[in-house]
Amino acid sequence: MRLTCDFLVIGSGIAGLSFALEAAEHGEVIVVTKRAREESNTKYAQGGIAAVLDASDSFDAHVSDTMVAGAGLNHIRAVELTVKDAPARIAMLRRAGAKFDLASVGAHADESSPGPALAHAEQDLDLHLEGGHSARRIVHWGDMTGREVERALVAAVSAKKNIRVLEEHMAVDLITLAKYGGPEVCAGAYVLDVERGKVVTILGRATVLATGGAGKVYLYTTNPDVATGDGIAMAFRAGAEVANMEFYQFHPTCLYHPQVRDFLISEALRGEGAILRRLDGTPFMKEFHPHAELAPRDIVARAIDHEMKRSGAEHVLLDITHRDEAFIKEHFPGIYAQCLRVGIDITREPIPVVPAAHYLCGGITTDLDGRTAIPGLWAIGECAHTGLHGANRLASNSLLEGMVFAHRAALALANVDRSKPWPEVPEWDVGEAVPSDEAVVITQNWDELRRLMWNYVGIVRSDKRLRRAARRIALLQEEIAEYYWKYFVTRDLLELRNIATVAQLIVECATARRESRGLHFTIDHPATDSRMARDMVIKRGVAAHLGQPVAVKPSPSHEHVGRGAG
Ligand code: FAD
Ligand code: SIN
Repeated sequence: MRLTCDFLVIGSGIAGLSFALEAAEHGEVIVVTKRAREESNTKYAQGGIAAVLDASDSFDAHVSDTMVAGAGLNHIRAVELTVKDAPARIAMLRRAGAKFDLASVGAHADESSPGPALAHAEQDLDLHLEGGHSARRIVHWGDMTGREVERALVAAVSAKKNIRVLEEHMAVDLITLAKYGGPEVCAGAYVLDVERGKVVTILGRATVLATGGAGKVYLYTTNPDVATGDGIAMAFRAGAEVANMEFYQFHPTCLYHPQVRDFLISEALRGEGAILRRLDGTPFMKEFHPHAELAPRDIVARAIDHEMKRSGAEHVLLDITHRDEAFIKEHFPGIYAQCLRVGIDITREPIPVVPAAHYLCGGITTDLDGRTAIPGLWAIGECAHTGLHGANRLASNSLLEGMVFAHRAALALANVDRSKPWPEVPEWDVGEAVPSDEAVVITQNWDELRRLMWNYVGIVRSDKRLRRAARRIALLQEEIAEYYWKYFVTRDLLELRNIATVAQLIVECATARRESRGLHFTIDHPATDSRMARDMVIKRGVAAHLGQPVAVKPSPSHEHVGRGAG
């Protein structure tokens, strides 16, 4: 079966849906998404969206905070344009129907009560504070911001006639015409209809990857099951450049509980005064950074990791019990309820927490409009590397990035060329494949890969551990490839193949970065080396290497032709 459209969007998180909404003004859109349409990292976002909205705050301060977190690798143009566009993106979300807490309400109203009147009231938004931010600038909906944003975007997209959303459809690989003797152009994707077990060909004038992050590459993560780095793996296989994969952000505070393994305890708790304590109750963050609990995330995560390794403890404690009970319940209704469900009353007792893989700062290299080096292929949101985050993302900058670059890509694609006839591309070829009779290979490799990434390529790395990881990943990839060609493709198999590719890219970039910077810390090269203030770039067939120096303000004429190299 073959489908065609102007814009093929892969992924239905904040990036994919906000792009689809705008692109629908210019043509027909198909959004494919591998599970239900709302399932995404976006839906689980808690803290909120960073935007300068208070008179005492400034764009310069938000730029500076982003650059400090990014440890010298941010691309200044990407940072500036993102920060300046933030208020307009928040307004866009509100127009699309998203509700945010208002300062006049002073807190998050009961989940069931707020209606459109609250959402559209002309009052100032309530702003939270998070680590690394020098001002209150986090727009939020209680501590369930992502759920509200995703709800509003799904509703807005569903109301558009020229957007078709195909749920339970998983992109398998990009269709590049060079493979069939044509020009180096991306013409769409092969997509597995999961329920029918059939692979469909979908052609688009532009193909937009919005597939999100890859937390599932690690054993412990805050990410939901969909986060398997598919877009990055597909783009890499298609020959696109990928950058800075060594910078995986570990969120310092994931709930530590045997029944709930992936529940985030928002940084906003620390913004509102929560204290990190050892199991004996002593606070420790001041020993690691003058900003204590509000130090950049990499520093807090490493401090917790250090404390756990030093003491042998399986977790540390996050304590907000000194705040007023009503305040806690109003500002953090989701966290309060979830912890209570597992027997922890956060108004009375500290929360056991551990760091967990959270956000991928690297990704597919794009220019400042989301364009990749392959004509016809675009990438936005967490799967892209735009240069915004550098070596470490500032809290609550990623929902923002997803919207800003979706908007820029939609503008750049407004006049997409519809004049050419659709190219002839072969249908998906099942070859000699048969139904699998050995699914255990998938679960075994899945567990092994995620565990080795956690143990060898985690918060603190070493040359020896990276070498071990590389050897094992190569072996697993051999087995996975054999399995891939022998059996019919399934979602599980495709996800395994993709996380193995992402693991390989992380290890190759981490091995090549022989220094410590931002999120990449290695005991063998503990200092930052100014000669390495460059992106780590990797391309199929080309080993990871340092690209252009970054953090240099380019002349404006470079904005649209470079590939985000600053
Ligand atoms: P996603 O929202 O992850 O969407 C990706 C979509 O692609 C999904 O629909 C997925 O099913 C689909 N997909 C993936 N692969 C395929 C495929 N092969 N075929 C078809 N579909 C595919 N950031 C902030 O700025 N503020 C926060 O407060 C915040 N809190 C967070 C809390 C948690 C628990 C987590 C996990 C993340 C948080 N983040 C936060 C990060 C932020 O949520 C993500 O970076 C952001 O939502 C990514 O948006 P996206 O649209 O790029 O990807
Ligand atoms: C959080 O609420 O702590 C997550 C914020 C983010 O990841 O940006």
